[in-house]
Amino acid sequence: PAGAQQWVPQHPRSIDELKSAAADCQGCELFADATQTVFGRGAPHAKVVFVGEQPGDVEDRRGLPFVGPAGHLLREAVDDAGLDPSDLYITNAVKHFRFETRGARRIHQSPGPAHIAACRPWLVSEFSLLKPQLVVILGATAGKALLGPSFRVTRSRGQLMPWPASAQHPEDFPVEDIQALATIHPSAVLRADDRDAAYQGLVDDLKVAAAAVA
Ligand code: URA
Ligand code: SF4
Repeated sequence: PAGAQQWVPQHPRSIDELKSAAADCQGCELFADATQTVFGRGAPHAKVVFVGEQPGDVEDRRGLPFVGPAGHLLREAVDDAGLDPSDLYITNAVKHFRFETRGARRIHQSPGPAHIAACRPWLVSEFSLLKPQLVVILGATAGKALLGPSFRVTRSRGQLMPWPASAQHPEDFPVEDIQALATIHPSAVLRADDRDAAYQGLVDDLKVAAAAVA
């Protein structure tokens, strides 16, 4: 398989149309072991689009992004930052769950550069319909998918950046003059030694996002 492109409709009219097409995607090997494609969800004309890494165990079973522990934490942070939850769309850089089986458990494995590249056409197609004002990049995988392999969250977080001008392949994004803001992934907050401080850092970054679209 050479990436998702051949499954992406050429002139999609809705996110639902993309989502149905993505259900059949075999653009990389991740479709084989995962339960289902987990596409983005949210307001079709959202001002703010969040991009995460890939669905987790709960998302893989339910077929919706950010409905597990990381999703609950993110929802709380969105509220605390004052972002309007009805004006958001949330998706992932990679749309199938990558995992390793240990006994009865499925252990999360980060997607590799090949999975990120293979799945990227879906992200581009989502942007073509959504035309958001602001893209919130949650963690390193989303950052690499959108801004290139040298992206580092710690260096860029909490700052508004021009986008897609600063992206790796700005020419393939069908949008102009929007902004991006990177922050840590909510799963990193869940794993942090000082969880309160990590949570506050996430909320502070999201407040910059809220102010940018107010
Ligand atoms: N982590 C992600 O990056 N995305 C999800 O949908 C769930 C957890
Ligand atoms: Fe297609 Fe992305 Fe799933 Fe790979 S991860 S099969 S490219 S939807």
